Amino acid sequence: LTPSQGKKRKRREVIDSTRNDFSPSKDNHLKKDLGSKLSTVPRNGEVRNISLSDKARTSGKHVKLNGVFHKSSGSSKPLLEKRNKLLITRKQLPIWPHADKIRNGLHGSKNVMFLVGETGSGKSTQVPQFLLDESWCTGCIAITQPRRVAAISLARRVADEVGTPLGSASPASKVGYSVRFDVSVSPSTRIKFLTEGTLLQEMLRDPWLKQYSVVVVDEVHERSVNVDLILGFLRNLLTGDQKGRKGKPLKVVVMSATADVHSLFRFFNAPYDPINGIPSSQHHADGSEMSWSGISSAEDELPSNHSLKNSRPNGNGIQTPISEASSIEKLGSDRISVCFIKGRQYEVQTTYLSEHTLDFVEDALKAVFKLHTQEPLPGDILVFLTGQDTVESLERLVNDYASIMDPKYPKILTLPLFAALSQAAQQKVFQPAPPRTRKIILSTNIAETSVTVAGVRFVVDSGKVKVKHFRNRLGLDSLLVKPVSKSSAIQRQGRAGREAPGKCYRLYTEKDYLSLEKETTPEILRCDLAQAILAMKARGIDDIVNFPFLDHPPRESLEKALLQLLQLGALNESGSISESGKKIAKLPLTPALGRILVEAADPDKNCLADIIDIVSCLSVENIFLNLVAEEKKEAAEEPRRELYRRDGDHLTMLAAVKGYAAEQTDRKAWSEKYFVSHRAMQAVMDTRKQLLAQCAILGLKNTAIEETTDTSQSEIQNTAILQCLLCGFAQNTARLMPDGSYRTLVGNQTVAIHPSSVLFGKKVEAIVFSEFIFTTRSFARGVSAVRLGWIDEVVAGM
Ligand code: CDP
Repeated sequence: LTPSQGKKRKRREVIDSTRNDFSPSKDNHLKKDLGSKLSTVPRNGEVRNISLSDKARTSGKHVKLNGVFHKSSGSSKPLLEKRNKLLITRKQLPIWPHADKIRNGLHGSKNVMFLVGETGSGKSTQVPQFLLDESWCTGCIAITQPRRVAAISLARRVADEVGTPLGSASPASKVGYSVRFDVSVSPSTRIKFLTEGTLLQEMLRDPWLKQYSVVVVDEVHERSVNVDLILGFLRNLLTGDQKGRKGKPLKVVVMSATADVHSLFRFFNAPYDPINGIPSSQHHADGSEMSWSGISSAEDELPSNHSLKNSRPNGNGIQTPISEASSIEKLGSDRISVCFIKGRQYEVQTTYLSEHTLDFVEDALKAVFKLHTQEPLPGDILVFLTGQDTVESLERLVNDYASIMDPKYPKILTLPLFAALSQAAQQKVFQPAPPRTRKIILSTNIAETSVTVAGVRFVVDSGKVKVKHFRNRLGLDSLLVKPVSKSSAIQRQGRAGREAPGKCYRLYTEKDYLSLEKETTPEILRCDLAQAILAMKARGIDDIVNFPFLDHPPRESLEKALLQLLQLGALNESGSISESGKKIAKLPLTPALGRILVEAADPDKNCLADIIDIVSCLSVENIFLNLVAEEKKEAAEEPRRELYRRDGDHLTMLAAVKGYAAEQTDRKAWSEKYFVSHRAMQAVMDTRKQLLAQCAILGLKNTAIEETTDTSQSEIQNTAILQCLLCGFAQNTARLMPDGSYRTLVGNQTVAIHPSSVLFGKKVEAIVFSEFIFTTRSFARGVSAVRLGWIDEVVAGM
């Protein structure tokens, strides 16, 4: 046996021996097929905006919408055929029978709607189409998404459903998207999917959101900092005089799978209470709650699994008293409507580990093959992991094992899904599997609610998620791998039962499940707020403390963020935004990275192109393949040494980008040679292109630098690059101590150089790092060697 064959055999033995490790708990299932009753379509349930008259169909020039002829959306015959085919599927979505109710909910003075519906019920794809031809909807419809992949895939899907080319593909296209580093819209775009960050950027240029008739805020339950900011801005806009909108009031739809409608309702309906953050609920003189008269009716009766928050799989779900559900139904006012969509949920048989796992990647591998060898097709497997590193490790393991699998089993197609993946790679997940093949989607929590992948019947849940956490003592965000919340675990489980009864393997014990926290803490309560505050300052909001936050962030994090912005020079001493702050706010980057770019454009530093290459690498998790097998690590050492730079990881990244970009014939082969992730490099190149364009718009540029082989000259350039990094990351610096450890200059904490760094095991007088991670101990990742004197200089100059 070769070492690799031996390893594979060992793995197979491990898998075989543990086939029965999972002990299905007797009664674990989600409520059965509650949505089946909904699949009957009302006779008049045709969605008006897509009705195409026969005449228009033959002329191809005009479509009849609500009795009025409109210019066609550039639809060709194949597009129309696709659209008609999709219409059949659309009619079966749980949301379909609610189309009129949703439209009515925004009639007249009603300008806010909360729409709660199970993931997959059709909210994101159908709501914009339902609203498109309303008389008040003369402008564009914005739908925000927390993630790029969701925004792009939804836009593609909705374009197909409308029967129009996507985005910039045709000037007549009605559906487009705008995400960080990628905009695809046409002059005729009416439905635009945007990431939350992109909408915030648009608000800087267009504070009244004049181009939009309605903003649909999707996935609010994820409670990202950005969604909280958007909700605050929208609330201000709706409660203000809207004079900038010139008589065209804005409508807002807030959509969610599990939202706490009560606090959202109070937030939009009641005077803001700056002390408690959440607006106080309104009471009548007699002390009773205001009486609501919403659009919800008995028909909207909340099913016990209306949101997984309220589901009770085997009594393990979160118990929400049904009285709360019925009181939610009664919410509503003359301005606000509430609508519930029953989801479709089949039984999901859930299995737990009998004891704690030591390695969830190994256990996920076992679960995947147990399912693959025991369950018939069709039925794809969705595995929830923590990040690019675990996704790529499992991908390699599954592929290795699949290559020696008995041919009697169906083939396996592994598909990774994580935020930093290039767009093209992300879109592969949505394509159906080839015949006799099972798709195994290895995903981060992206696929929890924001992305729907059809065909999934089996879920493997690591029970872990990578979250950002602000470490006050350090003043830094760190990435932590943490157990998911109960609400997330239930969402993940639910993904197995959307199309048919399914199975879910939880890679933790039932006891662990029961002790999970109920909900994930909103990001605004646990993250660095510098970017959020800069966005507010750039919009002219100076009184941060009195901004309407759904949950008011701790005073300490606000102060830390203000201080950081002051140190970065993004704010003046008076607390108002500086000229460079305005530029930083317009860059789709954290303030620290924005500051680095602005500094690099300074004639004294003159290294913008190189800094853009480095910053682009920082937008992916890792450009190097994460090698597990010893023999691979050894094989990679020699070629990688060509790229390694003694000054550290950032200049190594630069060398890698330059090498990759210079390769004109076969970049895939180049990546294989250096054990670099081709996929990550494609994403880096996308980002690089977009950043170059953004910098040009902002007037950030340099005089051209000749490539040089003169060592002293390149030393000067390298110093300039590292000093720029210090301008953004002055807080992420540590000095060497006499005992050989490193201690941060801010906070005096011990931090170790991460084993993935080229400086691992090296002793240099000081380091600057771009990422702080905490696993068993504190690690600095993305590390460069700097001089202590430079740090003093940078800090003094701030
Ligand atoms: O927003 P919500 O989770 O309620 O549902 P949706 O995203 O509108 O998805 C409704 C259905 O459309 C899904 O069940 C998928 O079958 C389909 N869909 C798709 O095929 N491709 C997408 N990119 C998005 C949705």
